[in-house]
Amino acid sequence: MRSRQLLRIGFFGAGRVGQGLAIALGEAGHAVVAVGSRSRSSAEALAARVPGCVVADSPQSLVNACDLLFLTVPDDAIATAAASLPWRRGVLAVHTSGAAELAVLDAARQAGADVGAFHPLVMFSDPQVAARALAGSTVAVETSSTGVAATLESIARDIGANPIAVPAGARAAYHASAHYAAGFLCVLLNEAEEIWRRAGIGGPGDASRALLPLARGALDAVARDGPAAAMQGAIARGDIGTVKKHLQALCALDPSMASLYRPIAIRAVDIALGSGRIDANRADELRSLLAKA
Ligand SMILES: NC(=O)c1ccc[n+]([C@@H]2O[C@H](COP(=O)([O-])OP(=O)(O)OC[C@H]3O[C@@H](n4cnc5c(N)ncnc54)[C@H](OP(=O)(O)O)[C@@H]3O)[C@@H](O)[C@H]2O)c1
Repeated sequence: MRSRQLLRIGFFGAGRVGQGLAIALGEAGHAVVAVGSRSRSSAEALAARVPGCVVADSPQSLVNACDLLFLTVPDDAIATAAASLPWRRGVLAVHTSGAAELAVLDAARQAGADVGAFHPLVMFSDPQVAARALAGSTVAVETSSTGVAATLESIARDIGANPIAVPAGARAAYHASAHYAAGFLCVLLNEAEEIWRRAGIGGPGDASRALLPLARGALDAVARDGPAAAMQGAIARGDIGTVKKHLQALCALDPSMASLYRPIAIRAVDIALGSGRIDANRADELRSLLAKA
């Protein structure tokens, strides 16, 4: 493989991650030279955003043009994409999935390519926004060799990200953790807004106007004090009567809302007990209240 500074970078898959990462790498001074995708229009959209990047005419010309090819296709398509490309010795094939292990690139490895994984802990929606969000983010790197690791870690630093190694076999757990920090946070906020809607509180936009500052304040407190100390509310105080009222109110709105509340609240009891904010007796009372269907 060429020295890192001279790496020619390509993308197979021109969706949200392909576009966001290509923009960030281009802005960091990397040579993003070629792109291919399932549909030509997606590839053209990526190429239009990154100076010097062209749409490859064929899989062969894409692989020939690159020293490092990011496979930015959906997780379920990575192995098929890897098997469909005409790899050559010395080229580096890298997927950007959080959950997939390196084995998903076995076809590329068997054809002589080096392999790696490069998963930015960023929510990619608008490519320009995501490209900016990469600065200050963490990128989980896994590779087939220490030389490849150094290359990918260095690329992560070039876009302002902090590289971190995820041990082999731990990617799915790591990815589940990321869901709690981002996707499931959205689920919880959606639930919070839905409670306002079902209970007839406020008008359009009021719930998010009220709840988002609350959520931001919680995130600030977590950043300052850690999640256990930051956690406030009825369970942290051991207020059993209030928790009982929550359950009754949610059951009246929709029993499934109470069903979601119960296991989350039981985790909150564990945290409150572990951080010494409630004692073991209060924790047992709360757990038995929350366990009742
Ligand atoms: N979205 C996120 O927030 C995020 C964050 C970190 C990592 N990731 C990972 O990054 C990877 C890409 O995710 P994404 O969100 O960018 O997906 P995406 O927006 O759905 O884009 C996927 C791209 O791959 C192309 N594609 C789909 N199926 C294909 C196939 N069978 N063969 C070739 N190309 C195919 C699509 O093609 P056309 O447009 O050409 O039809 C599209 O351009 C995934 O491994 C994902 O887990 C995602």
